[in-house]
Amino acid sequence: MADKTASLTLGEKSYDYGLLSGSVGPDVVDIRKLYAQTGAFTYDPGFTSTASCESAITYIDGDQGILLHRGYPIDQLAENSTFMEVAHLLIHGELPKKDELDTFTYTITRHTMLHEQLIQFYRGFRRDAHPMAIMCGVVGALSAFYHDSTDITDPKQRMIASHRLIAKMPTIAAMAYKYSIGQPFMLPQNNLSYTGNFLRMTFGVPAEPYEVNPIVEQAMRTIFILHADHEQNASTSTVRLAGSSGANPFACIAAGIACLWGPAHGGANEAALNMLREIGTPDRIPEYIARAKDKEDPFRLMGFGHRVYKNYDPRAKVMQKIAADVLDQLDIDDPVFDVARELERIALHDEYFIEKKLYPNVDFYSGVVLSAIGFPTSMFTALFALARTVGWVAQWNEMISDPDQKIGRPRQLYTGPTQRDYVPVDKR
Ligand code: SDX
Repeated sequence: MADKTASLTLGEKSYDYGLLSGSVGPDVVDIRKLYAQTGAFTYDPGFTSTASCESAITYIDGDQGILLHRGYPIDQLAENSTFMEVAHLLIHGELPKKDELDTFTYTITRHTMLHEQLIQFYRGFRRDAHPMAIMCGVVGALSAFYHDSTDITDPKQRMIASHRLIAKMPTIAAMAYKYSIGQPFMLPQNNLSYTGNFLRMTFGVPAEPYEVNPIVEQAMRTIFILHADHEQNASTSTVRLAGSSGANPFACIAAGIACLWGPAHGGANEAALNMLREIGTPDRIPEYIARAKDKEDPFRLMGFGHRVYKNYDPRAKVMQKIAADVLDQLDIDDPVFDVARELERIALHDEYFIEKKLYPNVDFYSGVVLSAIGFPTSMFTALFALARTVGWVAQWNEMISDPDQKIGRPRQLYTGPTQRDYVPVDKR
């Protein structure tokens, strides 16, 4: 209940609205009755000042550079957790006890295979199809195969669909990669970890045994954890909006994948590495910094800036360390990493970036690591989608089980023509 209020005066009249407080973070002005009482809408394109929902999953303090999943700091989870632990935490609200973790992992592991006919979908794509195009298509098609888990009013079916989505994303992503390089699909091998299974399906071949490299497995596990969830970002909001109409979970996650693909969002990891490669050497950095600052030039430093973080993205700090460790341990000397670190150093001392509070985000260093591991840039956003499916599923479940949830239906500021009569074509 709100004991604090916010007052709004429109013309001669004044209106009071409740101020609601969360466990931490900004209060919200409860304007649910504003239109009915005042006849006016609020106006907030891009939702920079709008809380779309109540959630208990992830908290971000953009000024302090804090990211908590159910209260646990992201650097502690990245350091100590497995991806299955974080998935359980996001969905169920608590770090699992050993037996809960074993049961959760066992359940996910036994949903890793795809329906044999779904595999035929891949044959319909060109070999050079972008993996995100394939992910959109194949994930959306899951609803054509798993009808026994599309009744969103049944909590059991919701959880089966959630397990299926988390389990099958690595298989779907690995198959998208295999298809693009003309290699045979590798079936899941359930004695491996979630991450190890994905690496084997991606880089293994039927002709020989595949040994999971523990350095790569640990790096990928941490990368998945860093990408798991991030409050009400564009793709999560897309999943929630799609889910608010009662669409089945597979369709909702396919909608999230489509939104994540954009270069301003999850597509930035692919764009950031392409940018670093285009810069090529540290001496060319000033030219690109100048372009990023030039209002006439649409170029932006990809992997820099964030709607919420006006400080260093805590995930970028962990990612930079993973990049250094993986390159060192795999004995890879990639000049792109030097370009990335020098670009960061210069940008963080440049007045423009300081004034606009632009810092590296999660996408700035991820491409360096993924490239070192052997992924093509076209796979980077598919890996982001694989990991974020855990967050999307957790947020979707939270929304669907919220008794107050209703279909999302924003309004607008209309600036088009007022009513006018039809003019026959010979009179126009
Ligand atoms: C992700 O929301 C999330 O949580 C997303 C995410 C997640 O985990 O889900 O964190 C993942 O999407 C990370 C962001 C990845 N995107 C990029 O790296 C693309 C490059 N960044 C920008 O496009 C931009 O910073 C955004 C989209 C990330 C944020 O844009 P905002 O909040 O709408 O900010 P803005 O565009 O209004 O920029 C504010 C100012 C502008 O200048 P002015 O008009 O005020 O003069 O900063 C400038 C922008 O021109 N600016 C940049 C810049 N980002 C913002 N200038 C140069 N390079 C940049 N990267």
